[in-house]
Amino acid sequence: MSAPAQAASGTQDSGPAQQPILETRGLGVDFGGLKALDGLDLAVYPGEIVSVIGPNGAGKTTLFNAITATVAASEGDILFEGESLIGLDPNRVTSRGIARTFQNVRLFANMTVLENVMVSQHCRTRQSVLGALLFTKAFRNEEAEITERGKEVLSFFGSRLTGYRFDQPAYTLSYANRRRLEIARAMATQPKLILLDEPVAGMNPTESAELTGLIGRLRDEWGFAIVVIEHDMEVVREVSDRVVVLDHGVKIAEGDYADVSTDPQVIEAYLGRSAADS
Ligand SMILES: Nc1ncnc2c1ncn2[C@@H]1O[C@H](COP(=O)(O)OP(=O)(O)OP(=O)(O)O)[C@@H](O)[C@H]1O
Ligand SMILES: [Mg+2]
Repeated sequence: MSAPAQAASGTQDSGPAQQPILETRGLGVDFGGLKALDGLDLAVYPGEIVSVIGPNGAGKTTLFNAITATVAASEGDILFEGESLIGLDPNRVTSRGIARTFQNVRLFANMTVLENVMVSQHCRTRQSVLGALLFTKAFRNEEAEITERGKEVLSFFGSRLTGYRFDQPAYTLSYANRRRLEIARAMATQPKLILLDEPVAGMNPTESAELTGLIGRLRDEWGFAIVVIEHDMEVVREVSDRVVVLDHGVKIAEGDYADVSTDPQVIEAYLGRSAADS
């Protein structure tokens, strides 16, 4: 797999006539009476980077969980490339072209770095278990492709995840490298849309600035549309074409960074204080 030569670059290509790659319509998620999401309308266009921000418990991760079918929507619809995702299981959502990372990193700790990105491609593999057992030529060819693609996505992160690191178990990695490996695993599924849940959480400012640059390159060089949940406003300001603000499961603002960051309702909700105090 090679990175698409040139992706749609940002909002200038995203006119209103274009079909969203992802759309939620009146999306609700109910946890025993608690409306974690309530009537959420959201559209993400190809080539866009959209940030989702909001206070703790606003429903941000629940949005990702609903899109990836790890929690059920109680109302509304989720459309990917115009087709509903409702009723699909998580693997099917991945094979449709949506990949995600988790707020709490989830890796196969005892597998090597390279194995981690190889297994995440299982949604794209064609060969049967029988082929694997018989070690057929087709199986070996596919294994070679998977290895090659795995190395390619790891190379995106430079020396941090390549060379001798290919063969290191994931548990030996630094926290920042685990986060990078999670993104590599998402890239390896060959998605069209990547959902990043707090990708710089726990990183120092240098690591965070570096990853911010990589998020832009994921869009520019690989062509992914990206939705990023992030508390670090520096990252949000740097990467976002558009920012969506959630509070108590409801969208309270949407626009470019300058607009939402000065919106009194957002300041009140997000910073937990009255706009008048600021
Ligand atoms: N599986 C679940 N069962 C019951 N309640 C849940 C579940 N998942 C989330 N919630 C609740 O739904 C609300 C939204 O949670 P969510 O994790 O989506 O918030 P968040 O915006 O991602 O917050 P944070 O910034 O802290 O990660 C919270 O009140 C949370 O306690
Ligand atoms: Mg969360």
